[in-house]
Amino acid sequence: MALLEIENLQTHFRTSDGINRAVDGLSLEVRPSETLAIVGESGCGKSVTSMSILRLLPENITKTAGSIRFHGRDLLKLTESEMRGIRGNEISMIFQEPMTSLNPVLTIGRQIRETIALHRTVSRAEMDGRAKDMLALVGIPDPARRLQEYPHQLSGGMRQRVMIAIALACDPKLLIADEPTTALDVTIQAQVLELLADIQAKSKTSIILITHDLGVVAEIAHRVVVMYAGRKVEEASVEDLLTRPRHPYTVGLLGAVPKIGVGGDKMRLVEIPGLVPNLKQRIAGCVFANRCPKARDLCLEFAPALEQKAPAHVVACHFAEKEGLAA
Ligand SMILES: Nc1ncnc2c1ncn2[C@@H]1O[C@H](COP(=O)(O)OP(=O)(O)O)[C@@H](O)[C@H]1O
Ligand SMILES: [Mg+2]
Repeated sequence: MALLEIENLQTHFRTSDGINRAVDGLSLEVRPSETLAIVGESGCGKSVTSMSILRLLPENITKTAGSIRFHGRDLLKLTESEMRGIRGNEISMIFQEPMTSLNPVLTIGRQIRETIALHRTVSRAEMDGRAKDMLALVGIPDPARRLQEYPHQLSGGMRQRVMIAIALACDPKLLIADEPTTALDVTIQAQVLELLADIQAKSKTSIILITHDLGVVAEIAHRVVVMYAGRKVEEASVEDLLTRPRHPYTVGLLGAVPKIGVGGDKMRLVEIPGLVPNLKQRIAGCVFANRCPKARDLCLEFAPALEQKAPAHVVACHFAEKEGLAA
């Protein structure tokens, strides 16, 4: 059974010039102990999806519909106080920029203790012990000393490790990592990702990894959801998606990128000509049609449904051929 099941999620914003359908009918699931990558260009709704899961949405939201079932309970139906019991406890999140998420005037130790105290009734000594263990787990040398320090005394990479320690302090079932390494330099990025993979192997935490970096996807994800214009356009296992992409958008993203196993560290998403559609207007046909090299009249008129085109491989495209499925 899935740990998290999102069904037909719609998260819409009010803006000065209309309703922005940032997430529009998204369905996906996260299974126990898996890393699910969500990829797609900037603005396609990845962060809004993660904020919807944790119900950390801004005021100008006009609509959230659909369901987000976690352990079978619909998060969209919980009270705010029930949500507070889940955030940082059963579902944690790490953000792109750790400096904005850490409190500059509190020691690292205090910040980890506060997270634990929010969700567990334990003694100060136990919390200190746990805080030290967490820093050790995320590979911070001399954890006893680091607990006394303030965020500005740490490097960017160390701060991101502290964020991960805080996120894991209560043993969450699901960790959402939204572009967790974008603000870090390349060697540190690799270390933080290795850490995430390591943690997952040890603790069996499920991870939603939002990233632009297909090298990262190849290395640590199990399955991939490709988002475009607030929707899922393709979903498959990592190997399948990287070696046999079926949606023209995914093919475009992969571009001339070396395939899996070849020069992995250069696998970044490439630019696709044309513009992402305006999410404030209803689009009749396929959302990608205006940029798609394969588009025909049919695509402008009818939106393709998500269909299984190969085992465990789902695509929303009129022209993605079926393959490998028993007829
Ligand atoms: N608070 C907001 N008000 C209005 N529109 C928003 C707000 N936050 C995000 N959006 C819009 O939602 C869409 C999806 O954004 P986002 O999820 O941040 O994209 P990304 O895939 O880059 O994470 C974008 O069109 C963005 O402009
Ligand atoms: Mg984002």
